[in-house]
This record gives sequence, C-alpha cells and structure tokens, in this order.
Amino acid sequence: DPEETLQSRPPVVTIMGHVDHGKTSLLDALRGTDVVKGEAGGITQHIGAYQITTKDKQKLTFLDTPGHAAFTQMRARGANVTDIVVLVVAADDGIMPQTIEAIHHTKAAGVPMIVAITKSDKPEANPQKIRERLLEHEVIVEDMSGDVQDVEVSAKTGAGLDELIEKILLQAELMDLKARYDRDAEATVIEAKLDKGRGPVATVLVTRGTLKRGDTFVVGTESGRVRALVDDKGKQVKDAGPSVPVEVLGLGGVPQAGDVLTVVENEQRAREVAEYRQQQATAKRTATVAP
Ligand code: GTP
Ligand code: NA
Ligand code: MG
Repeated sequence: DPEETLQSRPPVVTIMGHVDHGKTSLLDALRGTDVVKGEAGGITQHIGAYQITTKDKQKLTFLDTPGHAAFTQMRARGANVTDIVVLVVAADDGIMPQTIEAIHHTKAAGVPMIVAITKSDKPEANPQKIRERLLEHEVIVEDMSGDVQDVEVSAKTGAGLDELIEKILLQAELMDLKARYDRDAEATVIEAKLDKGRGPVATVLVTRGTLKRGDTFVVGTESGRVRALVDDKGKQVKDAGPSVPVEVLGLGGVPQAGDVLTVVENEQRAREVAEYRQQQATAKRTATVAP
C-alpha cells in the first residue's frame, strides 16, 4: 500500500515581493550567508534554492525570487512549485506593484501566504499602515481579524526571524506535507543553463522519490544520466530526496524551467522518450507556421 510508505517532507517556501524590499537579505539572515553582496547591482536575477535546518533539526526549503518588474514569469513559476509563500513587504515602503502581483500569483496558485513586514528596524517603518493597505488587496492579517499570519522582521537586527520560522513550521504542520522517498524520483526544473565548464546544468526541486547519482532520466525534450548532484552549498551529494533543491549534471541538453524530470529504467528508454517528445515539439512548431 503506497499510503504506508508516505513520509513527511520539508515545506517548500517561496519568498516573493517588490524589488529591493529585502527578500534575499531576509534569507541571508536566516541562513547566515551574504548572497546579496555577490549580486550585480544588488538585484536578484534568478531563482535561488536553499535548504535550512532549524535549531531543533527541522528542514525548510526556500526559493528566493527576483522582485524586479522584468521577472513576472519567475514569480509565477515560484508560486507554482511552492507549498507556502512568504510575502515580503518593506515597512518603510509599503505595498508596491510587484507586491500586488505577488499576491495575485499566490492566490492563483492557491497557496497559503505569510506576510513578513521587513526592515522593521527603520525609523520610518509603519507596519500598521501595511496591514491596513493589505486589506485593499484582500489579504486580511490576524490583527485585522483575518487568517493570514504576519510577522515583523528585520534582516539587519535579526528581530522576528525565529517567529517567522515558527509560523512557517506551524503552517507546514497544518498542511501535513508528505511524499514517498523509496521510489524513482520526479523533480521540477527551477532553472537551467549551459555552464562553460560543466555543460548543461539544471537546478531541480525533487517532488517525490529520491534522485540518485547514476539514475537515467528524461526531462522535457532532453535525456540524461545523473553524473553528479550538487547541493545548495556547492557540495557533491549521492542523492536528493523530496523537497531538496539540487543541481543535476549529466544532461544531454538544456531543459526549460518548469520541465518535469522523470527517472526511467535505462538510457535507451530515456532517449526514446526524449526523441518522441522532440518530434512532437517539431511537429507542433511546423503546424503553427504552416499556412
Ligand atoms: P531584489 O531581489 O532585487 O528584488 O531585492 P531583494 O528584495 O532581495 O532586496 P535585498 O535583500 O537585495 O535588499 C535591498 C536593500 O535593502 C539592501 O540595501 C539591504 O541592505 C536593505 N535591507 C534588506 N533588509 C533590511 C532590513 O531588515 N533592514 C534594513 N535597514 N535594511 C534592509
Ligand atoms: Na535587491
Ligand atoms: Mg533579491
């Protein structure tokens, strides 16, 4: 009975919000890293995927999304692979266009939201005004007798960070997130690129099963065999279970973000499926350009 082999898995939490409202800084504060410093112009341009372990050994997976207006698609994608959205709103700036867009993506994805009112250390911070303004977008926080949890945080002082983690874990517990670990993996491509030294590389989020080195797979119109798995700290790992973000090396080509990676029994099967899908894609393209 497959039900019996379901085990709990970490929540996948996507951080969304307007440009420069402090998403990456908040994650840096939670992880003890300094990603912001390495970003060109301090602007996030891709989806970062990380896992953190709390003091009492609970794991959470975080996806950091760009707040820049140009990255609407990435925000939508983030919302679609997530269990919980943390909406970051800077207490000194308030509700802005990409805040509203993030609210829409979250509602469209049907995902619960937690509001993190950040930069609360700033003298001009006005969290109460933000709670009121959120009402206009049908986000009703607990203070306003709604059911959306909110928390005031500061990446600078560390205020509210433990409370934010608690609220995420509480929400995750209510959702009773489970997956099978003991089966062939399925994963979703978060991002993919052609790396000069390493060839095609895809960052995937495992959705079920355990992805292992040596597995043969098909992903979109590409096939491959896992040559190496690299975790969010740049360390090679043997395998990756549900909710784990990992870089996959050994792809035949660069897949598309959103493609599903499926482990299949052997390389021949992987090539067959990939070739079939390539033909389908070509046929579709030809059909659309034909008179
Ligand atoms: P994009 O990914 O480009 O949309 O930006 P972001 O939302 O990730 O914001 P980022 O973390 O890059 O922070 C933007 C600026 O706000 C930086 O200068 C941070 O130092 C500053 N900042 C972030 N969080 C805080 C905070 O809690 N307090 C204060 N005072 N400044 C903060
Ligand atoms: Na920024
Ligand atoms: Mg950022």
